[in-house]
Parts: sequence; C-alpha cells; structure tokens
Amino acid sequence: MTASPTEFKALVITESTDKLTYSREITRRELDSLPEHDTLVRVSHSSLNYKDALSATGNKGVTRKFPHTPGIDAVGTIEECAGGGFALGDSVIVTSYDLGMNTSGGLAEYIRVPHEWVVHKPHMLTPLESMALGTAGFTAGLCLQKLIHNGVLADSGEVLVTGATGGVGCLAVALLAHLGFTVVAATGKLEHADWLKQIGAATVVQRDTLSDNSKPMYPARWAGVIDSVGGTLLSHAIKSTRPGGCVAACGLVQGSELNTTVFPFILRGVSLCGVDSSSTNMPARRALWEMLAASWKPACLADVTKVIKLEQVSAQLDHFLNGSVRGRIVVDLT
Ligand SMILES: NC(=O)c1ccc[n+]([C@@H]2O[C@H](COP(=O)([O-])OP(=O)(O)OC[C@H]3O[C@@H](n4cnc5c(N)ncnc54)[C@H](OP(=O)(O)O)[C@@H]3O)[C@@H](O)[C@H]2O)c1
Repeated sequence: MTASPTEFKALVITESTDKLTYSREITRRELDSLPEHDTLVRVSHSSLNYKDALSATGNKGVTRKFPHTPGIDAVGTIEECAGGGFALGDSVIVTSYDLGMNTSGGLAEYIRVPHEWVVHKPHMLTPLESMALGTAGFTAGLCLQKLIHNGVLADSGEVLVTGATGGVGCLAVALLAHLGFTVVAATGKLEHADWLKQIGAATVVQRDTLSDNSKPMYPARWAGVIDSVGGTLLSHAIKSTRPGGCVAACGLVQGSELNTTVFPFILRGVSLCGVDSSSTNMPARRALWEMLAASWKPACLADVTKVIKLEQVSAQLDHFLNGSVRGRIVVDLT
C-alpha cells in the first residue's frame, strides 16, 4: 500500500465573522488537520442526508464549530488503525456517532475516527450500495425492526411511510415492499407517484390529506407507520393507527412538536417507538448491516440512487432544505 498523502480534497464550510452566513468550498486540507483519532480511512464514497444540509447551513444543533467538513456517512479502506482488529486495506463503513457533526465528515477523501465507530463493510454490498443505504437505509431498517418487534408483520395490514420520496422514506418504502408489506406512501410530491409505485408503494397519497390534527382520534387504518417527518403528519398518523399497531418516529423535517392526546395509547394500545441511529450499539449495528446486505437488501437500490462528484454536492444540499430531494444521493470520491 502506498503512503497516505499529506493533503486531501474536502468540502469545507466556513462561517462569516458575524456568524450569519456559511460559505462552501472544495479545497485541499492538511491530513494533520483531521482529529487525533486512531483510524484513518481513505473514503471512496459518501452520501447526502438531511443532517448534512443542516450542518452546511450553520445549524448549531448539528455543528458548533467552523470551518467544518460535513458528511455523516462514509465507506472506504483502512489506511491506519491502532485497534478493533482492522487490517490495512479493509473495506469499512462509518456512519452515525459524531461523524460529520463535530468530527470532520465523509464529504472528503479522508476521515480520521475512533475505531469504535467503524464496521466492516459486508461483502455482499459494494461500496456504492453501502452508501446508497447509508444512514438513511440504516435508519429505515431500525424503524422496520421496531415495527416487527411490536408485532407488525407483512400480513398485518397497511403500513404508512411519510416523507416517502426522501432518503429515509424511499428506503423504508423499498425495504417494506421487498419484505412483502403493503405500503402506503405519503408525499408532498405527487408527480413522483409512479416512481414510488415502481419502488414498492401499493398506494400513494398526498400528505396534506393526512395532516388534520383537530380531532383526538381518526378512523383506525395503519398497522404500522414509519415517520421521518414529525409535526402534524406524525400526530395524525398516531391517531390513525389500528389497535396494537406501532409507529416508529425518526425525523422532524416538518416539525419537532408532537401534539396528541393519550387516547391512541390507552384506547387502542398504539406503541410509539423512537429511533436514534447514532445510539445503536455495535453488535446491533453489525447485525443490521449484515441483514441490509442480504435478505433485507432492496432490489431497487440502484433505481433510487443518483451518483454525483464532490464538486456537485453544494447544489444538491439546498434541495434537502426545500424538501425537493427524491431518493438517495451518493458522492463518489474516487
Ligand atoms: N433518528 C435518526 O437516527 C435519523 C436518521 C436519519 C435521518 N433522520 C431524520 O429523518 C428526517 C429525514 O431525513 P432524510 O435524510 O431522509 O431527509 P430527506 O431526504 O430530505 O427527506 C425528507 C422528506 O420529507 C418530506 N418533507 C420535506 N419537507 C416536509 C414538510 N415541511 N412537511 C412534510 N414533509 C416534508 C419530503 O418528502 P415528500 O415530498 O415525499 O413528502 C422530503 O423528501 C430528518 O429529520 C432527519 O434528521 C433521523
């Protein structure tokens, strides 16, 4: 293996002196500027997620200090490692923990992270496929695990997916359909209804039809819900879930408030499960990646994925903040 270079290409976000604006630049960084962790990974691919757009626009809940390189997902090969049983050249995935938040992230040719954050890439996933899944697919998988653990199975009835054209949403649709569930996809972009049906939705609904929150409960329809949106859609979904059903909540693009009475919980026995990909322990993390690489791998992964270069990232990030993203965006750093 050749020695690591002293510099690498990265997207860097810089804060203005008045801390009001954030500029984006592809530039060369010193390898020594990476944090002092024990594992150096040469990144081959990253992916874009909603959180990267928040980081790139100065959201202090995501990233406190600038200049900063975002990117919560990375796959690549080990170039230095002092622990964890990894060998030089091993193909590895790094997602979650603090990557791309306050630790220099995957939108760069190199990351340096603690070995405790690293998983071996399953052999049955290519690097590109692993990032087509990325945090979004991993989170959709965690949501599905919550439904299954709460007794929602393929023959239980309709499962609602909100934010269906987004990263988590489209992979939830694809994953559920792949495993035989009947999926209802809620979207603000009905022009993508045919695409949602191609990736597995049985029915596509305009999300506004599921946004009324004025009543304590609505007719019971959903056996399960995977929600990446929050706000009134989540409230309505909880109030429309069938007795014994389960709602997995992982996102807040519509809002962080949750307005509901306890009636769905005490009159219908509905379960509301929170999903936090970053706190998933390592054995569970490895096991889910292996499932996503094998029996849970959606056949349509390539159809939901667009591949771009680092130079195209800036333009794509803006689409996350106005809700216009469709599918997954993988960044090729080779
Ligand atoms: N808890 C976790 O571990 C975890 C992990 C990953 C992501 N997340 C969260 O999950 C959410 C989605 O992430 P993502 O990367 O999938 O984002 P994304 O690709 O931008 O998808 C979000 C989708 O939500 C819908 N949407 C956007 N604005 C909306 C609004 N105002 N009201 C209702 N729906 C709206 C849109 O889909 P439609 O047009 O089809 O409705 C959009 O494509 C984010 O809040 C993210 O932070 C959480």
